[in-house]
Amino acid sequence: VRVTSAQGSGTTKSTMELGIILFTLALLFVAYIIIFQKRYPNSPPCITGWIPWFGAAFQFGKAPLEFIEDARVKYGPVFTVVAAGNRMTFVTEEEGFNLFFTSKDVDFQEAVQDPVQHTASISKESFYKNHTATHDMLKGRLAPSNLHLFSEGLCQEFTEHLQYLGEKGTEELSDLVRHVMYPAVVNNLFGKGICPTSKDAIKEFEEHFLKFDEDFEYGSQLPEIFLTNWSKSKQWLLSVLEKVVENAERTKPSDNNSKTLLQHLLETLNGNGAPNYCLLMLWASQANAVPVTFWSLAFIVSHPSVYKTAMDKISSVFGKKGKDSVKVSETHLHQLCYIKWCILEAIRLCSPGAIARKVIRPLKVQNYIIPPGDMLMMSPFWAHRNPKYFPEPEQFIPERWRKADLEKNVFLDGFVAFGGGRYQCPGRWFALMEIHMLVIMMLYSYEFTLLDPLPKQ
Ligand code: HEM
Repeated sequence: VRVTSAQGSGTTKSTMELGIILFTLALLFVAYIIIFQKRYPNSPPCITGWIPWFGAAFQFGKAPLEFIEDARVKYGPVFTVVAAGNRMTFVTEEEGFNLFFTSKDVDFQEAVQDPVQHTASISKESFYKNHTATHDMLKGRLAPSNLHLFSEGLCQEFTEHLQYLGEKGTEELSDLVRHVMYPAVVNNLFGKGICPTSKDAIKEFEEHFLKFDEDFEYGSQLPEIFLTNWSKSKQWLLSVLEKVVENAERTKPSDNNSKTLLQHLLETLNGNGAPNYCLLMLWASQANAVPVTFWSLAFIVSHPSVYKTAMDKISSVFGKKGKDSVKVSETHLHQLCYIKWCILEAIRLCSPGAIARKVIRPLKVQNYIIPPGDMLMMSPFWAHRNPKYFPEPEQFIPERWRKADLEKNVFLDGFVAFGGGRYQCPGRWFALMEIHMLVIMMLYSYEFTLLDPLPKQ
């Protein structure tokens, strides 16, 4: 009885202590909000949730896309969400988008430096020293005028890795795409034999890469001790990439156009934390391209009339399906613009949920002043569902891309899948080429039947 009683009083005491702590936190939180509101009286409506510091992190984390849309309907086009100690201010209309991409009061590097440090262990100092130079190098090397340096080798790689898939079977479409795209693109950008892409080595590499990609979002914000498996995969990848870098340095040719993208990266970095930047480049080159290829094929195959049109166009260029694989050149890609429309339409529908900038000076949007320190957020996913730019926005309609001047590399108004401004995605032209090529080759090589309905995005 005494033991029970002693435990009881202990529980009561600790409950009281917890109560006091929560009460104090709540008071501090309320005080913070009052002081903040006084300093920035015109700041946008703010969703703070009930738990101090955590704010709306749980609701936001559970279903971020729905959360953004519900908040827009409830609070209007500009609103702030407090989550895990961060203030994220969302802009959901044109004026906000323009400022997001062009204002001098917001900054890309400030927004990504912390996530870069968490995900690739790149120090702040190294990041500010190397970021602009690496971005500009990638942008130049992957510019439309340089794509011919990649296209032939990429087609050979796709052909080789498509052969490993066999002639028929039932498999997850996303796995099929990854098994071809991952090794082909790594060999193409990093150099053949530089990264592990043999059939056996690839499995282990893919597993670690998948884990790294899956929890990338958490890894970019949380300390590694909370993500043991993610951290193991990250360390594994970094140790492999150390050897990759050594190999690439050893085999570097003198002629600029014979160097791989990785060798150009190493030259730009001049020995500064190369494996870490390499990890980011590897991730950036796969993280969006693999799902976009999956969605392009899935949308095409699940729309019979689109599938038929796509196959008619492909036969008109390459003839009827045969046993032999096709060699896809840049000229073929120009001839098959319908497939490119399908890909752009898939990208429109499955674009990134949010991209970020850091507000570095008070920023006026509509009648609000967004305070410095806030993360400014915009959602390409929702921007692409604006009927003003994309009538019947939820429908997969490749023909809407007829109006875009793709020959001049101009997308449709309102299309922001690759971000914008000074640090817009430098890999976008390469991405479109590789996805275009692989989708054509897969459609030509196989007859697809979807066994399950399309998954929810
Ligand atoms: C469909 C595929 C892709 C999509 C939708 C996509 C989208 C994006 C977006 C939204 C950003 C952020 C831009 C901003 O905030 O303004 C970005 C950055 C970046 N992307 Fe892509 N991307 C794709 C493919 C690729 C590929 C294939 C590569 C490389 C070969 C690549 C390399 C990069 C890099 C290096 C950055 C960071 C730029 C920097 O830090 O300055 N991306 N991408």
